Amino acid sequence: MGITKKTMLAVILTICGNSLITTSCTTAENDNPVVQEIDYLVLVNKTHKLPAYWEGALQTVTITNTVGDKVEAEYKAYAAYLKLKEALAKEGVDIELDSGRRSVAEQQDIWDRYIIKYGEEYTVKTVAVPGYSEHHTGLALDLYFILDGQTMYYNEDLVKYPEVWAKIHAKLADYGFILRYLEGKEDITGYAYEPWHIRYIDDVALAKDITARGITLEEYLQR
Ligand code: DAL
Ligand code: ZN
Repeated sequence: MGITKKTMLAVILTICGNSLITTSCTTAENDNPVVQEIDYLVLVNKTHKLPAYWEGALQTVTITNTVGDKVEAEYKAYAAYLKLKEALAKEGVDIELDSGRRSVAEQQDIWDRYIIKYGEEYTVKTVAVPGYSEHHTGLALDLYFILDGQTMYYNEDLVKYPEVWAKIHAKLADYGFILRYLEGKEDITGYAYEPWHIRYIDDVALAKDITARGITLEEYLQR
């Protein structure tokens, strides 16, 4: 495991015109920041695509999960996930990372596989159109868990354990995560309830507030 993105923002100085800056600069042709720290409250949904600057600013780690898949995640989100995992292990809940940051091509693969396996109606409620997935940010993580030695990995198995999810969800905010696709808020998020999809926002107090109010990120941001 290691920080794979070369952009170490804390130390990078970028020359923008004649001035040295540490955070961002813009060009005449393109108003997107050239170098910028990621916005942990970024909204990526069916109508808001990944900001153009994102790829250049994102720092990630890549790990291998218990089923042998490589999973990439934004480095702070991954560190918070490890703390969440440790806390849940003390309660007998063994979580793992199914999916983290995805490229547009990876999202397209998932889209295509879901269309074949589950059909279009389920796919549009469950998988984002490539370019519009929160997974592109590296801040969205899909969890699975191991229960009594058995790996619960597929959506159809995972939904059978609301009591396990309740324990997981109760701890998310303590580590700066929110549950992103809430039950009963499908009309706002655009997606069916996903107990496994958590979102790192890098702010424990805010995560607690959003969770206590039972609102979505869209509602919090009023967008
Ligand atoms: N499952 C979420 C909506 C995604 O595909 O990004
Ligand atoms: Zn997800």
